[in-house]
Amino acid sequence: MLSLSAIRQRYRSRLALSLEQFEVGAGEHWLVLGASGSGKTTLLNLAAGLLRATEGTVRAAGEDLGCLGEAALDRWRGRQVGIVPQKLHLVASLNVAQNLALAPWLAGLPPAAARAAELLAALGLADKAGARPAQLSHGQAQRVAVARAVMNRPALLLADEPTSNLDDAACAAALDLLQSQARDCGATLVVATHDRRARERFEKVLQL
Ligand SMILES: Nc1ncnc2c1ncn2[C@@H]1O[C@H](COP(=O)(O)OP(=O)(O)OP(=O)(O)O)[C@@H](O)[C@H]1O
Ligand SMILES: [Mg+2]
Repeated sequence: MLSLSAIRQRYRSRLALSLEQFEVGAGEHWLVLGASGSGKTTLLNLAAGLLRATEGTVRAAGEDLGCLGEAALDRWRGRQVGIVPQKLHLVASLNVAQNLALAPWLAGLPPAAARAAELLAALGLADKAGARPAQLSHGQAQRVAVARAVMNRPALLLADEPTSNLDDAACAAALDLLQSQARDCGATLVVATHDRRARERFEKVLQL
């Protein structure tokens, strides 16, 4: 469902990621481990079609991303990919429910207030629908970011450093949440981190 082949990713002329083959089957949960600067975010951005491969091929959720134009790529990403970025990028001026409503809106899908309410309830955030991101704890904001990422039931769920700055209990909870939400959507999950605490929770690990 996700395949990166013969990738040489350069920023200007500098090589940032070199990867012969990374094959992820549908529904699998993968951990991408690597030190700071090893190319984890670069790999996730390639998989999400946020970055074009400077060399090599990226296939994800049924598409060869190099063959899609910008508009088609945006449409594909909106419907097929859920992203939990490292800096959560919740929209500060919108409340939690409105942040979740952005996901279907940006993908050109019908409003899904019931789905948002169901997710917030499942994540213990039912009473936070009207709160602004600044009024949330870090753990709560992170759960909102996961909820936003799975709003459209993506085929591919990508999370970048979802456990940074979390204590052991919150680290376990964040990974549980990603894995359980991926299972609920039938999504393929790729988590990138330098946090070795995540290692024991994944059978499939790519070391960069
Ligand atoms: N936009 C950019 N322009 C130039 N170089 C970049 C850019 N983004 C990343 N790089 C470089 O590419 C390499 C890989 O970066 P990347 O962000 O993918 O690493 P990472 O594994 O996610 O690191 P971290 O754990 O610190 O988040 C690094 O050497 C980085 O300096
Ligand atoms: Mg990174």
